Amino acid sequence: MIQPHGGKLVNRMITEDQLPGNVSVLTLNEREKNDLEMIGCGAMSPLEGFMTGTDYNSVVKNMRLENGIVWSLPVVFSQKKEDPQVAAGDTVALTYNNRIRGIMEIEEIFTADLMLEAIETLLTDDNAHPGVQYLKTLSGTYIGGKISAIDLRDEEPFREHRLIPEETRALFKEKGWKSIVAFQTRNPIHRAHEYLQKVSLEMVDGLLIHPLVGATKADDIPADVRMKCYETILEKYYPSDRTALSVFPAAMRYAGPREAIFHALLRKNYGCTHFIVGRDHAGVGDYYGTFDAQVIFDKFTEEEIDIIPLKFEHAFFCNKCGGMATARTCPHTGADRVFLSGKKVRAMLIDGILPPPEFTRPEIAQILMEAAAK
Ligand code: ADX
Repeated sequence: MIQPHGGKLVNRMITEDQLPGNVSVLTLNEREKNDLEMIGCGAMSPLEGFMTGTDYNSVVKNMRLENGIVWSLPVVFSQKKEDPQVAAGDTVALTYNNRIRGIMEIEEIFTADLMLEAIETLLTDDNAHPGVQYLKTLSGTYIGGKISAIDLRDEEPFREHRLIPEETRALFKEKGWKSIVAFQTRNPIHRAHEYLQKVSLEMVDGLLIHPLVGATKADDIPADVRMKCYETILEKYYPSDRTALSVFPAAMRYAGPREAIFHALLRKNYGCTHFIVGRDHAGVGDYYGTFDAQVIFDKFTEEEIDIIPLKFEHAFFCNKCGGMATARTCPHTGADRVFLSGKKVRAMLIDGILPPPEFTRPEIAQILMEAAAK
């Protein structure tokens, strides 16, 4: 089984009765709530808590933790105006929607240059970028320290698909899969996604469909609708003995290339050996070049990343080929290829028009149309 990032699978999950009494309570925002769950269950190994200043600065500038291990995005907790004053050395409870979800042993409170963070990690400080918009809601003071997270999965949606790294690793072992490709997505599975997955599945033992279900921007398709799509497409079009579905409870950062590295490293923690990176992975708008999220892997050695990125060109249905293809396999011109923008598809769904089967499986189109009509 593949080693977790940094060599050791972290487990910082506790039960409610292990909470200390009489401590200050700090408020998590939605991304921080997602990160707390991810750190606690070991998905973010080797992180054991929210970053302190040295790790944060090193990650922002060099894409490495202070100890040199590759890590491409900050994982931080921001001080909130309405919260009580706290200091290094304090143990505090962390709450979201009035529910205590974990604790932090504060090691350091530090000031951050949020616009430097935006430029280095998102490659822009443009207000239209959702990641920049998020940073602009923060105070500029981060609180770092080790966390423990209460296992609240029984209260979360998609419980039966909410496997932690220990459990996906056990699942792969039970299935006898030695090589496993992970697929990150924040969208329903369209024909292009299916093509990437199935081409990969020709080469490895198992496929983990690992949709992100943490915070996303308002116009992304909600996770509950997507889960219905995933369950339906798996049942109708995928070999059940070679495919697994589990959720990735992280927040989306829309950080393009840096997020592709982040997504890959975290899938290694879940036990995957391969990771699909297609066109404009984790991108938004025109902030990143189409294949920048693939090129960034060249900055590191294979040993440092230790999960194999499977890089794909833009995939499409070609009418002349009569099937899915990419520019590597199809000699025809753009006019023969079916391209539909997300905007066009949304408009079709709202108008009650089913997108064509060359773009999406009819069963998925149906679910999306019903959701759009609500
Ligand atoms: S992402 O933000 O989670 O990356 P999305 O769900 O759209 O967005 O994509 C999931 C994966 O499929 C990413 O690796 C992306 O690069 C890839 N992908 C999406 N559409 C295509 C396509 N038409 N051709 C090639 N790769 C694609």
